[in-house]
Amino acid sequence: MKYLSRSFFLSSRSYGSTIDEGFIDVCSFALSSRFIQRIRTLVAMARENKKFVLAQPAKHDFIPGETFRLEKGIAPTEDDLKDGQILVEALYLSLDPGARYWLNDSPSSLVQRGDTMYGFTVSRVIASKNGLVKEGDIVTASSGWAEVAIVEEPNFSKAEVPKGGQLTDLLGVLGVTGITAYIGLDKIGKPQAGETVVVSAAAGATGSVVGQIAKLRGCRVVGIAGSDEKCAWLTSELGFDTALNYKKDTFKNDLAEATPNQIDVFWDNVGGEILDEALLHAKQNARFVICGAITTYNNPKDAKGVYNLAAVLLKSIRMEGFNVFNFVQDWPDARKALGGWLADGKLKRRDTIVQGGLEKAEYAFKDLFEGKNRGKLLVEIKPAEQDE
Ligand SMILES: NC(=O)c1ccc[n+]([C@@H]2O[C@H](COP(=O)([O-])OP(=O)(O)OC[C@H]3O[C@@H](n4cnc5c(N)ncnc54)[C@H](OP(=O)(O)O)[C@@H]3O)[C@@H](O)[C@H]2O)c1
Repeated sequence: MKYLSRSFFLSSRSYGSTIDEGFIDVCSFALSSRFIQRIRTLVAMARENKKFVLAQPAKHDFIPGETFRLEKGIAPTEDDLKDGQILVEALYLSLDPGARYWLNDSPSSLVQRGDTMYGFTVSRVIASKNGLVKEGDIVTASSGWAEVAIVEEPNFSKAEVPKGGQLTDLLGVLGVTGITAYIGLDKIGKPQAGETVVVSAAAGATGSVVGQIAKLRGCRVVGIAGSDEKCAWLTSELGFDTALNYKKDTFKNDLAEATPNQIDVFWDNVGGEILDEALLHAKQNARFVICGAITTYNNPKDAKGVYNLAAVLLKSIRMEGFNVFNFVQDWPDARKALGGWLADGKLKRRDTIVQGGLEKAEYAFKDLFEGKNRGKLLVEIKPAEQDE
């Protein structure tokens, strides 16, 4: 029966829509009309599902159309759920630079050849065999680059949009990147009022929140970003004191001038030359929060090295790597604080939302490495108006 119904789906011109009538006629000779009716119903109910799988691990830059493969098939249904599992449809997909690691050809990578690309979504529950959520609930889930997926604990959590918030905030300012900014500053950066905080990739999802929290803590904040437009946004809308375009020839001098009292806290999202330069301007006992190193993700061997490490010793700098997934117990407090600031209008955000559905994900992922996003980069999988 399972095999037969799959044959019917495959003979359809598009999954779950038009049935090859000739095929049905042939089967009619062999099968009862009641059985045919049952199959017709199943076909009508079937929903197409799209997902991106890893086709070819990337050695250097990943290549849309080559690294990933878009697969189309029949979506899982409630009948496929085991106890404890839920069926979700993705509304928004989060794109995160760190996901580049999962494209490496490594046996320890979370994503292996043929696997669905790993990723976080805001999704709606279509069916549930888990007491924590019911049909219609909104969840955040690591459901991957797929339209419809089955997930189970701990890979989903029920989510509510707080006052003053919107659905996309669950992946941005109130999601992993916002929480990273809050906890990383709190646990490692520990900025004090009056101190100078410098943030790289400051106009991105994490950096834009880091800078605003540092301002709320009473610090002087210098942002570093890749265009004059981003810099203008940081100072005019987000309240940064100064913003520097690292692509300008004058950047090294600009950083020196922008930090006359030197750097107390450096939040690093990029590594390489910018980190190296920040070390030169660090104050005694400065804290360096190593949150990311995007300059190294695609081509680690070509990335510019860090030569000024002696400064760590000479200035007693505390340089510490931060991984937000090591602080899961602190996420609820972080969300509460961020949600409060958002509701009070003290925290601003501007997401970059790529429309056009899941198909856009592989190209949109590239945008992170080309600096095309401002704030959180998301793909809209299902437009809000289609979400009843
Ligand atoms: N440790 C953790 O737990 C954790 C959690 C979340 C994120 N992260 C890390 O935090 C960093 C930011 O992540 P996000 O999600 O917030 O991304 P994002 O900052 O929104 O986007 C990445 C930004 O990086 C900048 N960039 C890209 N290539 C660059 C280069 N070669 N040199 C300098 N800047 C470059 C681009 O902005 P420009 O236009 O300014 O170049 C781009 O917009 C990433 O390194 C990520 O891996 C770490």
